[in-house]
This record gives sequence, C-alpha cells and structure tokens, in this order.
Amino acid sequence: MIEKLPDLNEWENYFLKNNGNLQKITWNYEDSLSKEERNCVSRSIAKFQLGEYSEGQKLIEFCEKYSQKYEDKILKKITSLFIKEEQAHSQILKRFMELNNIAILKYDWTDNIFRFIRSLSGYELSITVLITAEIIALTYYKALSKATKNKLLKDICLKIIEEERKHVLYESMLLKSMRKQKTRISQFFIFVAHKFLFCSSLLLVLIDHRNVIIRGGFNVYSFWATNIDEFDNAFK
Ligand SMILES: [Fe+2]
Ligand SMILES: [Fe+2]
Repeated sequence: MIEKLPDLNEWENYFLKNNGNLQKITWNYEDSLSKEERNCVSRSIAKFQLGEYSEGQKLIEFCEKYSQKYEDKILKKITSLFIKEEQAHSQILKRFMELNNIAILKYDWTDNIFRFIRSLSGYELSITVLITAEIIALTYYKALSKATKNKLLKDICLKIIEEERKHVLYESMLLKSMRKQKTRISQFFIFVAHKFLFCSSLLLVLIDHRNVIIRGGFNVYSFWATNIDEFDNAFK
C-alpha cells in the first residue's frame, strides 16, 4: 500500500504568501561595512551566496518523479516556490555584496561537493542534502549577524534565518514521512548516514568560516553543540 503524502496545503499557503517578500529589507545605501568587517566576512558571504543559488532543474525533475506515484500536484508547486525563495536569498546577498564591493564567487569546491551529492539520485537524497546545509545555515547566519554592526547585513541575516527555519521545518516533515514508510533497520542506517553527512559538513563549515563564527561570538564547541541541537530538534 502506498502511504499518502502529508498534508501540504498549509505549506503551499506559506510559500505563496511569502513569495517575493523582499519588502522586509530596507536597503540603506549609506550603510556599508567597515574595512575590518569586510576583510573578515567577505569571502565567507561570497561562498554562502554561491551556495544559495540553484536553477533547481534537477530538484524539480526528482520531485516530479516522486510526486507522480502519489498523483500529487502541490509538491511540485511548492518546490518551485521554494527554489524561488532560495534564489531570492542568493539575490539579496549578491546585492549586498555589490554594495560593498565584494567579489562574486563563481566556483567553490565545498559547494561542488554538495551539488554533486544532490544530483546523484532521487528526491529524498536531494532534500536530505538541502536540509543538512540549511540547518547549519541557521547558526551560521546568526554568527554572521553578530559579527557585524551593519544594520542592513543584520536584517538580511534575520530574514534568511526566518525563511530557513521554515524550510527546515517543511523538509524535516517531508523526510520524516518518507522515512516512516521504510523498515526500522533502513530508518536506522539512513539516520546514521545523515548524521555522518551532517557532522562532516559541519566540520567543513567550521574550518572554512571560522573567522565569521568566532567573530560572531561562538567558539568551536558552542557552534558545534548549537548545530547538533538544531539537527536533533529537526528530527526528534
Ligand atoms: Fe537559503
Ligand atoms: Fe532554504
């Protein structure tokens, strides 16, 4: 028996309502980063800006295939809106970077690893990789917001955190419902593999973005522990 998809109407409403909600940010062109702040955060922001952007074709393809077996049309609609929301994050960061003369990155090896795993197979793996990055993003943007006095950057971080929190909630709900349909032993191995992916990614982010993380008031232990808490909360 094929289980039903969870109720997606509420999520469709959320994504529709939030669509193009850029007005939360007041673009103050006078407010630029100090030289010291810029040196600390620019490469890190550039990497996140690159990571936030995706055409999302592969995700839509996987989603179409997955939702076909449920004869569902809402999931694809939500996925398109979700991709738009991620592209908006990238766009906002790009605009901020341009305002502050921060160079746009075209390539980053950690970003390529994430994209490669996401493209390997199916909808479930794509969502698993996405949520891994989004959970870490929650604490990263918190650190970035505390690492600066720049009001515009703080507002941007706040908006992205708010939306990523919704994404984490939405995707964990989907993943939990997918995993529930598997045997106990598969559920166990999937959980262990996901936690391994999460911890490896977290280690990479800690090394790569340590300047922002430390400036944002975290140390290695508190950044690690906060992230593990976020992961455990998402899947409890
Ligand atoms: Fe995002
Ligand atoms: Fe997201």
